[in-house]
Amino acid sequence: MKTDRAIPLARGAVPLLGHARALSRDPMHFLKSLPEDVDLIGLRLGPNPVVLVCDPELTQQVLTDDSTFDKGGPLVDLVAPLVGDGLATCPRSRHRHPRRLLQPLFRPGRLEDYGEKMAAAIDSVIGDWRDDQVFDVPAEMRRLTIRVAVEALFSGTLAPAVADQTADDFTAVLVGIAQRMARPPVADRLPTPTNRRYYAALKRVRETVRDAVERRRADGTGEDDVLARLLTTGADGKPVLSESAIVDHAITFLIAPTATIASVLGWALHVLAEHPDMQDRLHAEIDVLLADKPASSDVLAKLELTQRIVTESLRMYPSLFFAPLRIVTTDTDLGQHRLPAGTVLAFSPWLVHHRSDLYEDPEHFDPDRWKNTELPMPSRNAFIPFGSGARQCIGLDFAYQEMVLALATIASRWRLEPVAGSPLPPRAAANLTARGLRVRTVLRRPSGAEKCSRPVDLDGRSVRTPDGNHRPTQRPGWLI
Ligand code: HEM
Repeated sequence: MKTDRAIPLARGAVPLLGHARALSRDPMHFLKSLPEDVDLIGLRLGPNPVVLVCDPELTQQVLTDDSTFDKGGPLVDLVAPLVGDGLATCPRSRHRHPRRLLQPLFRPGRLEDYGEKMAAAIDSVIGDWRDDQVFDVPAEMRRLTIRVAVEALFSGTLAPAVADQTADDFTAVLVGIAQRMARPPVADRLPTPTNRRYYAALKRVRETVRDAVERRRADGTGEDDVLARLLTTGADGKPVLSESAIVDHAITFLIAPTATIASVLGWALHVLAEHPDMQDRLHAEIDVLLADKPASSDVLAKLELTQRIVTESLRMYPSLFFAPLRIVTTDTDLGQHRLPAGTVLAFSPWLVHHRSDLYEDPEHFDPDRWKNTELPMPSRNAFIPFGSGARQCIGLDFAYQEMVLALATIASRWRLEPVAGSPLPPRAAANLTARGLRVRTVLRRPSGAEKCSRPVDLDGRSVRTPDGNHRPTQRPGWLI
């Protein structure tokens, strides 16, 4: 097969910024506008040329061959001041050892232990909500997810107020990184408000985490958590990781579960607020299976609709929607193209998840498409919100558990209503976030008066009307 076909350049590049402006202003629209029948397409993100892998099989090839397609590229360089050589960004040569060190924290037996801590952290945020309150969904979800991460993975090492500040700092840094991806480095030194916020947030996060590491080294807790594993010492009594690597990994394990899960949960809440029928079905499932019990991990497996909503949210809104995170290490062939060493590659879970040859009616939010699929992970090539191969997300099961728990807990207490003028579609920062999204809370408990106000069945195929007849429910539908 001839392997030197030219890679087409995507339309719509503008001077200096290339495709970066379109991608950050309306990422979903931009990705949707790319032709479906190309396997690779060229983009320009500011000064950086990037090849986006569009074909699902080739995406799998890139993700599963991390010696030819290693971590690297301009985004990895840009996140380095925050996470340095942390697990998600380090090259293959420094990857396997810390991955083995941390993997035991994410084994199935361990996940069950996190259930109670997750539930308590979720409660500490949702417990503050009031009836008829309008809240900023992304900010509130970040507060929730960082508290879960701190409690479950760092044994509560950061006080809640410090955790909340750190979540805000992550956002400021991620916005700064997205801007830096699209503009010449000279602009980084200008004293603009976003630059000032970026540098202040970066400094605060690194100091907060360095401080937490120091305190843990001095005090210990006896808990087997991320910090304990990072502070492991060898036979000679010396730490197995360098001081900077410890801080880099620790920040990675704070930001990764915070930004990603907050983004997916935010979208799920948006869809529910827009679709009262789907919310009714969710409430019916929760009311039957949870009754008045808290949503603990032992009932999660039974919450089938809740899981399907999480899976469909991950399909429609994979938080790492566009990932220019690979560099070609040696001249190689990919599909029908020859790629020289040094080529930067991006992959896009969003593109794969929205292909019409893989999903029927892909723009339709339909949890029931997952009904006859084994959850939580359907077909490898078609569903990659957590990546694949050696660099696949270490927190996949942790994330599923947290998202199902959070959604179930919220739905057990609150009905969500849309707020007029809540601005969507949103822009993307480093991940796909429903920026500016607000919803209104309506209390369901303790009165229970609101509970199951509409007649529904759990399948959503039909509802029984007061006269005893069945009529079809509206299909949940939401077009981006
Ligand atoms: C909805 C939630 C999440 C999504 C969508 C997500 C997505 C991803 C993706 C796509 C990757 C692969 C990136 C690549 O191949 O370049 C990844 C890697 C990673 N994720 Fe997640 N993630 C989520 C939650 C979490 C959680 C809860 C944690 C930690 C508790 C976590 C920690 C990491 C780490 C450390 C890596 C790097 C793994 C390695 O290279 O060995 N993520 N994540």
